[in-house]
Amino acid sequence: MGRLDAKVAVITGGARGMGAEEAQLFAAEGATVVLADVLDTDGQATAAKIDQASYHHLDVRAEDQWQAIVDQVMADHGRIDVLVNNAGVDLVKKLLATTIEDFERVTDINLRGTFLGMRTVADAMIKAELPCSIVNVSSVAGLQGVANHGVYSASKFGVTGITKAAAKEWGRYGIRVNSIHPGIIETPMTADMRSFTDPEVRQRVERTIPLRRMGQARDIANMALFLASDDSDYCSGQAYIVDGGVHP
Ligand SMILES: NC(=O)c1ccc[n+]([C@@H]2O[C@H](COP(=O)([O-])OP(=O)(O)OC[C@H]3O[C@@H](n4cnc5c(N)ncnc54)[C@H](O)[C@@H]3O)[C@@H](O)[C@H]2O)c1
Repeated sequence: MGRLDAKVAVITGGARGMGAEEAQLFAAEGATVVLADVLDTDGQATAAKIDQASYHHLDVRAEDQWQAIVDQVMADHGRIDVLVNNAGVDLVKKLLATTIEDFERVTDINLRGTFLGMRTVADAMIKAELPCSIVNVSSVAGLQGVANHGVYSASKFGVTGITKAAAKEWGRYGIRVNSIHPGIIETPMTADMRSFTDPEVRQRVERTIPLRRMGQARDIANMALFLASDDSDYCSGQAYIVDGGVHP
């Protein structure tokens, strides 16, 4: 028996990285998975490798696209048991060099996108009188300011905050909302970082991590699985750090 048998999960940013890993793990645990992303070729290829997965184009910034995908999944399956708001973009820039366009792009994808997803799915599930688990992917930068990541950090603090507020508003409807806070994880987002491209830098960074290794997408997927499943059915409004022990 799988831990997500008969559940329907929507995962944004599911084309690659952590989202694709979560899709694989959720499907292996029995879920029907809907992947949503703007990288259509990668998204379709990822979905094709997973039983019981489909791919839908979704720009998380677009309110009408959120309504369309939620209407479609509700029509097809009658429920969305799990929403993982995983889509996100990084920005490595000093604050004094950050333009208003940078600010809007990062906050629109990371925070507005998460807000729209939560609101659209919760509205549908409250009307259907069914429970739901919403998992928002924030960051350790959503709990602690990170230099040269000022706007990214601000957007992820926003995700941390809206998670806690939504958990209080929607708990009475059986809607749980939690956030995950990854440390440095090896994915396409971080592939160009010297911590991954230069073996010496990697070793140096690994020595600063209590568990002495870089994080992998599977580490985050395992936490997402716990929060998606009924194993966490008394957990809501919480921030779960997955970083090898760096931020105790
Ligand atoms: N990798 C890390 O070290 C790390 C650390 C902390 C938090 N995170 C967060 O984890 C999440 C997943 O990141 P990842 O490392 O797998 O990165 P990734 O770049 O591999 O994956 C992110 C996915 O989001 C999608 N996406 C971007 N903009 C989108 C939009 N407007 N609409 C829909 N999809 C969009 C991308 O196409 C991509 O498939 C992100 O929210 C990221 O901020 C990552």
